Amino acid sequence: MQFLKDEPHGTAKLFFLSSAVWFVVGTSFGLIDATHMAAPELLGNIAWIVFGRIRPMHTNAVIFGFVGSGLLGAAYYMLPALLRTPLYSERLGKLSLWMWNGAIVAGSVTLSLGHSQGREYAEWIWPVDIAVLLALALMFVNLMLTATRREEKILYVSVWYVFGALIFTFFIYFFGNAVWNPGTGAIVGIPDAILAWFYGHGIVGLFLTPLAIAIAYYVVPIVCRSPLYSHTLSLVGFWTLLMIYTHIGTHHLLQTPVPTWLKVLAVSGSIGMIIPVMTVLINLWLTMRGRLGYIHADVGGKFVMAGLVWYILTCIQGPLQALPTVQRVTHLNNWVIAHSHLGVLGFSGTIALGGIYFMLPRVMGRPLYNKRLADVQYWLVLLGMAGFFTVLTAAGLIQGNGWLNGETVYRILPEIHVYMVLRASIGVLLWSGAIIGLYNVIMTITRTPSERLTK
Ligand code: HEM
Ligand code: HEM
Repeated sequence: MQFLKDEPHGTAKLFFLSSAVWFVVGTSFGLIDATHMAAPELLGNIAWIVFGRIRPMHTNAVIFGFVGSGLLGAAYYMLPALLRTPLYSERLGKLSLWMWNGAIVAGSVTLSLGHSQGREYAEWIWPVDIAVLLALALMFVNLMLTATRREEKILYVSVWYVFGALIFTFFIYFFGNAVWNPGTGAIVGIPDAILAWFYGHGIVGLFLTPLAIAIAYYVVPIVCRSPLYSHTLSLVGFWTLLMIYTHIGTHHLLQTPVPTWLKVLAVSGSIGMIIPVMTVLINLWLTMRGRLGYIHADVGGKFVMAGLVWYILTCIQGPLQALPTVQRVTHLNNWVIAHSHLGVLGFSGTIALGGIYFMLPRVMGRPLYNKRLADVQYWLVLLGMAGFFTVLTAAGLIQGNGWLNGETVYRILPEIHVYMVLRASIGVLLWSGAIIGLYNVIMTITRTPSERLTK
């Protein structure tokens, strides 16, 4: 069968292509979403794109489709390379790819038809959840069978991160979506809120974060032509990430009646996150010290480096906003939306793009179609991200101080309107960047080298 064709690196290639497609689709959803907030009447209540439907279509498409596919494609490329063994089965890999994409398409369509389970990042209905779980299981089996046949005995830290991510994501997805309750995808009351945020936080902390870090640990030493500063430090970071990130989801619920001990655990764990974050950053910084010129010269390396800088900012902001006194101002307003984009787009999304630009030419055995276009996309993503962060943080502070002063929502809305217009305009930069990226990826995959020479 053509769509399960057995070709070297075929799975990684198609995951990279999927990521580029979902970047365009996801940012298109985001733009519609932002338009609703800037001009609520403009789209005239078209049922399948009303705010309540398009918002989860946007978040799931960017998290699982754009960032997730990019990171998983990189895992399919990195593991065989690091283990010096071909992937156990490209056919199985492609089956996981189609299931993954099928789930995201089905999830988007059913959401737009109004079928939602209404819990953040877990909105997809149960048949979609089953497809996601099956895809994750297939990926794990395929990569594990590759690892058991490996030529390279030493397991580099990126391998640990990929397996950690796959195992944890499978279980948090299963429990977080309450798959045993297909009707609602939930349990009840406050325990459900705790479960939902154990899941929601796990998706960013145990799916996106470890896979993105795996890429950074792979790309930085190669681009810098320098060995990793410390393997011991890299493993300290890995184990502390798993130990701490797993149970701090309750920092999303500090202002609800969840048990106090759980809040204390969540807040102290959030501050403890400094350990896994700093071990990664210090280790990579000492690896690239004095060699930033190499990073600058490599477009993949440049994206990864930018992603790491956003990671520092995300993880300075994260522990701060987990403090109850700070959260009294920052909770339930655009401050958090700024943080979300900083983490998901700035950190993990930008590193996923770095992975694609670094690995796609190696997968295809030929250079990137157009390096200059990749540079243009780099600047559009960088400016778009910085713009989003500034505008949304400003809007969030206005809202947060309004709530503190007992203002009503409707009196604050006119004050943040200009920021909503700015956010939608800045979104156009990101959307253009996504289209340029898709074009570059398609051309790199489809153009033969001879066509490139005559270009
Ligand atoms: C040191 C690490 C981090 C800490 C301590 C942290 C802390 C927090 C806290 C306390 C909130 C809730 C804010 C509120 O509702 O008032 C939050 C929200 C969020 N964080 Fe982080 N964060 C960290 C890193 C990250 C990273 C790396 C990502 C992305 C990969 C990320 C993505 C998100 C998202 C998407 C939300 C919004 C969830 C929602 O309400 O929809 N965070 N974070
Ligand atoms: C054209 C570019 C984009 C626009 C216009 C846009 C707009 C939006 C809007 C309007 C929301 C809903 C905010 C709310 O409910 O108040 C949102 C949420 C979100 N977006 Fe985007 N977005 C864009 C790109 C992205 C990208 C590329 C990513 C990730 C790679 C992303 C990740 C998220 C996440 C995680 C949330 C949930 C935030 C939360 O609940 O805390 N967005 N976005």
